[in-house]
Amino acid sequence: MAAPASPGLPSRISADGSGEIEEAASPTSRRAVVGGICAAAATAWLPAPVRADEAADPARNMRAQPSDLLAAFKNEGAGAIIKPADVKRDGQPLLAWPFDPAKKVARDGSRLNLIVVMNFDPSSLSEAELARAADGIVAYAAVCTHMACWVTDWLASKQVLHCQCHQSEYDPRQGGRVVSGPAPRPLPALPLRIADGRLEVKEPFTSRVGGEQVTR
Ligand code: FES
Repeated sequence: MAAPASPGLPSRISADGSGEIEEAASPTSRRAVVGGICAAAATAWLPAPVRADEAADPARNMRAQPSDLLAAFKNEGAGAIIKPADVKRDGQPLLAWPFDPAKKVARDGSRLNLIVVMNFDPSSLSEAELARAADGIVAYAAVCTHMACWVTDWLASKQVLHCQCHQSEYDPRQGGRVVSGPAPRPLPALPLRIADGRLEVKEPFTSRVGGEQVTR
């Protein structure tokens, strides 16, 4: 079964399961708000056709690496390096790309690299999540573990991250565990630290990023 299209976001993943984009859904379909940003508008920052001089750079496709910084996703301020103060406690999630500080390039060549970043009271985090958090700031892959739709909606009333495709919900305070829905495993978590006043990746994702099923 093909995953329902999300607004303006890639609707298919590759046959080899790598998650790379094969085509994009219509940008005129349902609008969703992600981190205070209209997803349809935000697609300007989703993986776009690469320029000829970028095509050969594998850094853009690599998953987040230790010592990567985080670059803001949203239209206004897109590409700015995220500082801890940018992630408001108990606020909406920020969307970000990993940013290679050596090459000075965002890892925006794969949709699987998009990250949700949130800030919670450290005392509310599970022990495992606390160990991965940077002063209460946690990060996860923004891709559902069911069929790789976006997990960018924050349901404040339930305090869960939500996937619009089949209603899976994840608890970001508890390692991204599945609260409800068909998702078979937690969201991959991305351990963070603070270095030189900026958020930095401490370790790779805790598990493989992507869905369990390949859509065609
Ligand atoms: S893709 Fe099915 S619940 Fe997210």
